[in-house]
Amino acid sequence: MKYLIISSGLRKQGNSWAMASLCCKRFQESGEEAELLALSDHEMPYCDGKTYVDHPTTQLFRDKVGAVQGIILATPVYNFDANSAAKNFIEITGQVWENKVVGFLCAAGGDKSYMSIMALANSLMLDFRCVIIPRFVYASSSAFSNGAVTDATVVDRIYELSDELVRFTTSLNSS
Ligand SMILES: Cc1cc2nc3c(=O)[nH]c(=O)nc-3n(C[C@H](O)[C@H](O)[C@H](O)COP(=O)(O)O)c2cc1C
Repeated sequence: MKYLIISSGLRKQGNSWAMASLCCKRFQESGEEAELLALSDHEMPYCDGKTYVDHPTTQLFRDKVGAVQGIILATPVYNFDANSAAKNFIEITGQVWENKVVGFLCAAGGDKSYMSIMALANSLMLDFRCVIIPRFVYASSSAFSNGAVTDATVVDRIYELSDELVRFTTSLNSS
């Protein structure tokens, strides 16, 4: 199985990236093939319903999603939702999400926005029949220090989510 960890935060090496990075390390240390894709490293076109299709980044992102069975999306929480880069990424990549197994990591400022990923999770289930891991990791700013995840409970939850993604993906793809 192959795994893609998408960090949608556009603040380079922000808290959502720190969660994504730790998660990717967990996959790799467990012997899994995993890649970290930081959207802050790319010029991503807006989904305008037309010209984005021919943009090289669109094809690159579609190839990366299409090549894996399991995906973790790490996003900052903005206005009680995933950030707009995460939504735009899904809009420009589209059908390649079909039947993927997906988990979420959320970096927030406070502790009250923990339901914020539900709209995006619903859209992936309804549009692309993604299987969503029912174990989200939500971390407020107190879980981080010097650009790293320092809260031991959050670290454990990230490991648990990684392990669950492997378990779900392997089970669903076995014949
Ligand atoms: C435009 C904007 C909206 C935000 N909205 C929320 C919010 O609704 N709830 C929350 O807990 N934090 C909110 N925050 C705080 C971010 O979630 C927090 O700073 C997070 O660490 C950002 O992720 P990053 O470090 O990967 O950039 C918001 C921040 C910005 C800039």
